[in-house]
Amino acid sequence: MIILNTAQEMRDWSTRAWAKGQQIGFVPTMGALHEGHASLMRAAVAENNGAVLSIFVNPAQFAPHEDFGRYPRTFDADCALADDLGVAAVYAPAAEAMYPPDYSSYVEVGGVSEGLCGASRPHFYRGVCTVVTKLFNAVKPHRAYFGQKDAQQTAVIRRMVRDLDMDIEIIEMPIVREADGLAMSSRNRYLSPEERERALALSRSLQIARTAMADGERDADTLITQVREALEPVRVDYVALVDTVTMEPVTTIKQPVLLAIAAYVGNTRLIDNIKFIPPDAH
Ligand code: PAF
Repeated sequence: MIILNTAQEMRDWSTRAWAKGQQIGFVPTMGALHEGHASLMRAAVAENNGAVLSIFVNPAQFAPHEDFGRYPRTFDADCALADDLGVAAVYAPAAEAMYPPDYSSYVEVGGVSEGLCGASRPHFYRGVCTVVTKLFNAVKPHRAYFGQKDAQQTAVIRRMVRDLDMDIEIIEMPIVREADGLAMSSRNRYLSPEERERALALSRSLQIARTAMADGERDADTLITQVREALEPVRVDYVALVDTVTMEPVTTIKQPVLLAIAAYVGNTRLIDNIKFIPPDAH
C-alpha cells in the first residue's frame, strides 16, 4: 500500500491506474477508522481493482466552536487497517496544501443540504462538498463509498455529482452497529461509560419507530413524538422524517423515508437514522 501526500502524487497514481484500465473505488474519511469504515473499504476493494482511502480532517466542515482540534487522529492504526483490507493507496494531504491562505473557492448545494444537520450546522455541507470535490479531482474515482449513518451527506453528494456532471457512482453502505445497537462513529470515543449507556437511547428510539412503521403507523407527528419520548435521557437536536432523496419533510409516509435524529450526549453530538420503504410505495 502506498501513501500519497499531495494532489499531484494522487492524480499521477490515478492517471496510471486509468491508463491500465483499472477501476478506482474511493473511500473518503477523516480517519479514526472503525468497523463502519472497514465495511466501506471492503466494498471498495471487492468491487474495484484499485481502492483508495483518503484520511483528512477537513477544517472547512467544522465551526470554530466544534471539535476540530480534538477530533481523534489515529493515522498509523488507520493505515495498518487499510493495508490489511487490501487498500492500494492512502491519500493524506496536508491542510496547508488543501487550503492555502488565499484559498477562496467553495461548493454549495442548495435544498437537500438545508434541513437536518444543515440547519444545525450551517457551515457543514459547504465544507463537505468543497473537500469531497477536491478529493474527487485528485483521486478520479469510478465509484465512491459513503455510510448510511450520514444519510443526508450521501444525498447531498449524490445531488452535487448529478448537478455538476461528475461521472462518479455514489454507493451508500448500511450502518454498522455495535452489538448493543449503538451506531459506529469516530465520535463514540468521546463518550464516558455512563454516556455510552445513555447514547443507546438513539438506536432504541429508532427501533421503536421501526416497529411502529412495520405495524402500519404512517403519521410523521406520531412517530416523531414516540422517538422524542424514547430519547428522554439525551438532549435532542432534531428528529425528522424526510424523503430519502430530497430530504424534504414528510407528513404521511407514502414513499421511502428517512427517520433521522441528532442528539447531544453530554457534549458529544451523535446522529443515527433508519430508512423505511412502505410495501405500497410509489
Ligand atoms: O463523512 C466524513 O467522514 C466526512 O464528512 C468526509 C466525507 C470524509 C468529508 O470530509
